[in-house]
Amino acid sequence: MTGDTGSAQTHQFQAEVAELLNLMVHSVYSETDVFLRELISNASDACDKVRYEAIARPELLAGDERLAIRLKPDSSAKTLTIADNGIGMERQELIDNLGTLARSGTKAFLNGLKEARDGLGLIGQFGVGFYAAFMVADRIEVTSRRAGSEEAWTWTSTGGAGFEVAPASPEQARRVARGTEIVLHLKEDASRYLQPYELERIVRTYSDHILFPIELIDDKGEARQVNAASALWQRSKSDVTAEDYTQAYRSIAMAFDEPALTLHYKVEGRQSYAVLLFVPSTPPFDLADPARKGRIKLYVRRVFITDDAELLPSYLRFVRGVVDSEDLPLNLSREMLQNNPQVRQIRNGLVGKVLSELESTAAKDAETYAKIWSAFGPVVKEGLYEDHERRAQLLGLARFASTAGDTPRSLKDYVADLKPNQTEIYYLVGDSLERLRGNPKLEAARARGLEVLLLTDPIDAFWTTLPQEFEGKPLKSLSQGDVDFSLVPPLEKAEEAAADDKTADDEAILTAVKDTLGEAVAEVRASSRLTESASCLVASAQGRDRELERLLARQNRGSGARPILELNMKHALVRLVGEAQKNGRSGEVGDIAHLLLDEAHILDGELPPDPAAFARRLNLLVLKGVQAG
Ligand SMILES: Nc1ncnc2c1ncn2[C@@H]1O[C@H](COP(=O)(O)OP(=O)(O)O)[C@@H](O)[C@H]1O
Ligand SMILES: [Mg+2]
Repeated sequence: MTGDTGSAQTHQFQAEVAELLNLMVHSVYSETDVFLRELISNASDACDKVRYEAIARPELLAGDERLAIRLKPDSSAKTLTIADNGIGMERQELIDNLGTLARSGTKAFLNGLKEARDGLGLIGQFGVGFYAAFMVADRIEVTSRRAGSEEAWTWTSTGGAGFEVAPASPEQARRVARGTEIVLHLKEDASRYLQPYELERIVRTYSDHILFPIELIDDKGEARQVNAASALWQRSKSDVTAEDYTQAYRSIAMAFDEPALTLHYKVEGRQSYAVLLFVPSTPPFDLADPARKGRIKLYVRRVFITDDAELLPSYLRFVRGVVDSEDLPLNLSREMLQNNPQVRQIRNGLVGKVLSELESTAAKDAETYAKIWSAFGPVVKEGLYEDHERRAQLLGLARFASTAGDTPRSLKDYVADLKPNQTEIYYLVGDSLERLRGNPKLEAARARGLEVLLLTDPIDAFWTTLPQEFEGKPLKSLSQGDVDFSLVPPLEKAEEAAADDKTADDEAILTAVKDTLGEAVAEVRASSRLTESASCLVASAQGRDRELERLLARQNRGSGARPILELNMKHALVRLVGEAQKNGRSGEVGDIAHLLLDEAHILDGELPPDPAAFARRLNLLVLKGVQAG
């Protein structure tokens, strides 16, 4: 933007903002109360920021040290004013912050809004920030003065395509000595936000635990504080009710649900700090955000420092809350936090505490734990890949679908039910539970009553690439390398494939199939996994498991490694290869060999490499069979 900055200038909203505003203005979303929570939260952030900057530059607060947020309804003008004496914004900040959507996850949110029929419910869940004010106001004026600045600017918009930024009028500039004043011209149907009791109710519901006083200004200009403004985490547990915790959770996490778990404790000793952490009961919106950032707020002696100190590992990023340290220096820069040994010690303490809380919940309250695991299990499992030190503990927390029934199983359950002579924990990775349950690779395990864990989260393909074991029992994929069930007796004397006692006929069949298929497979061998199906594909013991290879191939990161085709040597179709070969019907050998490979692809949920050829061969063989019969 060029030209004279001394007069009013019109700016366009970024396309996403315009889209969001359009949704907002026409929204039938009834819970418009959230706008106040958003504006108060911004005001509180602004107060946090000026207090933080003032550690290095105390002059920023000079003459106006008491940070506060003020709400002033004006019934005759039909306006509601929300003012803070926080950090404020410069002209360019007004343009950038109130003209674009900088938040991570916003794109996903917008898409969600458009797709979901009840998408508007997401407004509350996600919190659309400042723009939520357009649900209740048809015109908004924001006057702001950055701390320490000579200039004050006013941003004005009616929520259409754009906004205006101009120097603040002398009167506005006088009113805003530091910080930000937001004047909402309320819509007809939003006049209830002029009622003091209504405002007080909303503050108590959503913003009671904001650390700065929130004051309601009456007609006579008198101020009355309406929030508790207490650091709840500093109180003793016995003084805090469940309702208090829920409210604190909602205001800290900007959430609407109930916390599934609450951890509130104090550490004293070499380091002293208070902790208030929550596990939500529904996944927060930014959970799938690729940045994988946590949001634990770090305070030092009640002063907010940052929510970017990564106080918990990424795989616990769904945990929300506050850590308030008594010992860290206030002037520790955000960058230095990363390497500070005291912070590292806090971090270690927190992970341990969260994991042991999860463990004890799993032991005491299986129902709550099952909900937590179904919401956040896929995230926690990232730790199996990343956190070597705590892998055993994380495996203990994990719950899996399994062939043993419909309720999720722990590895403890699994190990307790091992069959005699069973020394391994078997699993199969795939993308759908139904398909896995029908997978032929389960056949021999099933015939011996061996339980198999069925893993269907995308992350499962990754953590299983690392050697994993639980209570001394290695985890073993049924679609990779060799399996050896021979020590475990079958449930009944069923016909089953035995890899060991191969006959000369068997050898001839395997060679013929390999010769036909050539480079399409790395090897053709006799299977000990199959009892009913004719064939299956597996990965070599050194290669990637099949599901991982599939996932990576979809992103063009496949290794191109060829699978191994395993044949059930007892299966009639496989025997047919031998017969055809003996009788010199080499065309038939080729057709059956290809069919065995294509079937194996299909049973893994893949298309045959050449679907047209597959259909042709199948038709041919069916016709032959019918005509012969
Ligand atoms: N009262 C305020 N004082 C200073 N800056 C503000 C204020 N309100 C909003 N902002 C700025 O506008 C940005 C956008 O606010 P918002 O839409 O609520 O998103 P978020 O708070 O998640 O960043 C904030 O990050 C902040 O930089
Ligand atoms: Mg905000």
